Amino acid sequence: MPPVIGVFDSGFGGLTVLRELRQALPAADYLYFGDTAHLPYGAKSVRTVAKYAISAAHFLEEHGIEMLVVACNTATALAFEDIRSAVKVPVVGVIEPGAERAAAISKTRKVVVAATEATVASHAYQRALEQRGMQATEKACPLFVPLVEEGWVEHRVTEEVAHIYMDEVFQDGARDADVLVLGCTHYPLIRPLLRRVVPQSVEIVDSAESTAAKVVELLDADRGQGAPGDLRCYATDSVEKFRRLGSKFLGCPIQKIELVDIEK
Ligand code: DGL
Repeated sequence: MPPVIGVFDSGFGGLTVLRELRQALPAADYLYFGDTAHLPYGAKSVRTVAKYAISAAHFLEEHGIEMLVVACNTATALAFEDIRSAVKVPVVGVIEPGAERAAAISKTRKVVVAATEATVASHAYQRALEQRGMQATEKACPLFVPLVEEGWVEHRVTEEVAHIYMDEVFQDGARDADVLVLGCTHYPLIRPLLRRVVPQSVEIVDSAESTAAKVVELLDADRGQGAPGDLRCYATDSVEKFRRLGSKFLGCPIQKIELVDIEK
């Protein structure tokens, strides 16, 4: 039997993680929960993010998932332990796999992490990297999420903003860093743009890819191979908007989307 995997995010961004998961385990059935009514999480407090994330995790567990992937970097950074203790199924977050990959490829042992303000303030990536003997410089890039949602993934304004953020960090404290971790669900969409902006000696690690590889490692990968499985999406706000924006993140049209209210 193919596995049933639940994927949770604050909105559409986690579809970049789902996209990687579907490539690695195409036959699995996926239930995706996007908490679009409360988007963005990136500037919210631990208490608020944990409350929403736990409700979503319960919802997915009640719908029969056997593993939960917390695709949202902010939710992983702020509430991973809370989510893990709230459900019985195994939970995978995006931070440990991203840190593991960065540690595996860095030679200088210095890494830059780009993420939301809340993720940076939590220092979750810094801790995960320091445990692996790495030095981390975390950089909040709050303008990237709205720019990506506007569809400006190859826009001169986004490139200018990226230059300001990345020059600040790479020309200041993190001159010797040789890895940039994309610590936010939205950043894989501007990866080609970031590639042009950061020094060529810097490798880009996408937490979405590393997380999919981790899930494959934990599940019996053979169970995920075969004819494409089912995808059901649940959104806490406009289904129409989810369909429109979500397909950009997933890279293909989304058929089944249901509106849910987890505050009841
Ligand atoms: N999903 C969030 C993350 O990966 C980005 C969007 C938000 O702030 O909710 O950090």
